[in-house]
Formats: sequence, C-alpha cells, structure tokens
Amino acid sequence: MTSAVVIGASGGIGGAVADAIADEGTCDRIWRFARSSGGDDHLDLEDEASIAAAAERVAKGPAPSLIIVATGLLHDGDLQPEKAMRDLDPVRLARQFAINAIGPALIAKHFLPIMAKTGRPVFAALSARVGSIPDNRLGGWYGYRAAKAALNQLIATLAVEQRRHYERSIVVALHPGTVDTALSKPFQGSVRPGQLFTPDRAAVQLLDVIDGLKPADSGKLFAWDGSRIDP
Ligand SMILES: NC(=O)c1ccc[n+]([C@@H]2O[C@H](COP(=O)([O-])OP(=O)(O)OC[C@H]3O[C@@H](n4cnc5c(N)ncnc54)[C@H](OP(=O)(O)O)[C@@H]3O)[C@@H](O)[C@H]2O)c1
Repeated sequence: MTSAVVIGASGGIGGAVADAIADEGTCDRIWRFARSSGGDDHLDLEDEASIAAAAERVAKGPAPSLIIVATGLLHDGDLQPEKAMRDLDPVRLARQFAINAIGPALIAKHFLPIMAKTGRPVFAALSARVGSIPDNRLGGWYGYRAAKAALNQLIATLAVEQRRHYERSIVVALHPGTVDTALSKPFQGSVRPGQLFTPDRAAVQLLDVIDGLKPADSGKLFAWDGSRIDP
C-alpha cells in the first residue's frame, strides 16, 4: 500500500498534479492538503500546528512514497514583486520567506520522518529558476528570488540529513516552467510563444521528471524538462 501527498492542492499546479497522480492509478491514497480546505484536508504553512496535525493523519495510513509541495507566493493584493531596491520592505520580504522557504521547511520537518523507507521515496518542493543565483541576469523580484534561493539551500540540507535515515530517499526542488496559473497571470505578457504550459501539461512533465530521479539526484534543483539548474 502506498500514498501520495500534495500540499497546495488548491493551486493551479498542485491541483493538476494531484489529478495526474490519480490518473496514473498507482497510489492507494492521495492526500490533497490546502489552506482553503476545511476539515482533514486543511493545512496552513503559517500555522505549524496544522502541518503537524496533517502529518499525524497521514501517518495513520500507508507511508507516502511521494510528497509534492506545490504551495508558493509571488503576489498577493498589496504584495507585488519588487521592481527596484526602493521597493524593499521588511514585512513583505518576511512574508515571501514565510511562504516560499520556511513553510516548505516545516512541511519537511513533519512529513519526511513519515515517508516510506522502501523503494525510492520522493519529496519534491516547487521552486523557481529565478531563485538560481547564476541565472540572475534581469534583477528585480528580490523577495521571491531570495526566498526560492533559500528554499533550494534548505532542500540541499534536508537531502543530506534524510539520506542518513534512508539512503535511497530523494529530496529535490523542481522548477515547473512558466505555467498558466493565478501566480503567473500578471506576468505572462513577456512569455515566448509555446513556453506557457497548461497546469495539466506541467503536472505530467513534473511527474515525468520525478519518475527519472535517482538517489544521487537528491538535494538538487531540476527544471520541467529534467535538466539540472545550478542553484
Ligand atoms: N506558475 C508559474 O509560472 C510558476 C513558475 C515557477 C515556479 N512556480 C512555483 O510553483 C508553485 C505553485 O505555483 P502555482 O502557479 O500553482 O500558483 P497558485 O495557483 O497561485 O497556487 C499557489 C498555492 O499555494 C498555496 N498557498 C499560499 N499560501 C499558503 C499558505 N500560507 N498555506 C498553505 N498554502 C498556501 C495556495 O493556497 P490557497 O488556495 O489557500 O491560497 C495555492 O494552493 C509555487 O511554488 C510557485 O512559486 C510557478
């Protein structure tokens, strides 16, 4: 018996990933956690108790062989990505880190210990190419970039520790490409034709990348096409 866990299942990519896992039909149970869900599916990254409670519920069933953290924040009403240093604001920077780095780290804290210790369990958190320091040529988006860079470092560190518990475990960060969701909507004007993926396509691509991962890939950042990104 196996289970899969999608956190951020109310999101464009998270919802499509959960549906794609269901379509594959290889998991006995799929958990779809979201901040906006009530009851047993509720999980808020800014409420560690809700993360711990969700992990406790999952631990009662088959151990997860796949966990995908599909949460994230780029803009949110008052919070818009910074265009220049004059836009830097401590409260908004802290919020970017809370959702894009600290939240996924707390998910790892509570969910990695309950993952399967057979086969090739995969814990994948959605990051972004713009978090790559060598890739940063355009500048801007300070908070989102820095929080995703922090997430990539957290993933690398978690991979080292998790390998000590089970040497075939895989902990990775994934860049989904530019995907047509609420997160990317205001910024889609500059996307080259053919480079804006539907959530369904992005989900299949991400699951294909996950299928191809080996334990030696743990700790790294991969793009939607399976290529490595230097974080
Ligand atoms: N779309 C792209 O082009 C693109 C490109 C590169 C990377 N990514 C990354 O891919 C991931 C998914 O993005 P998306 O495009 O699917 O965005 P989305 O549709 O806006 O989904 C974001 C998800 O994050 C959840 N979330 C936000 N704050 C939360 C909190 N405090 N607790 C729990 N859940 C919270 C949202 O839940 P609610 O429904 O409750 O708000 C929603 O499920 C993100 O990490 C993003 O950075 C996306």
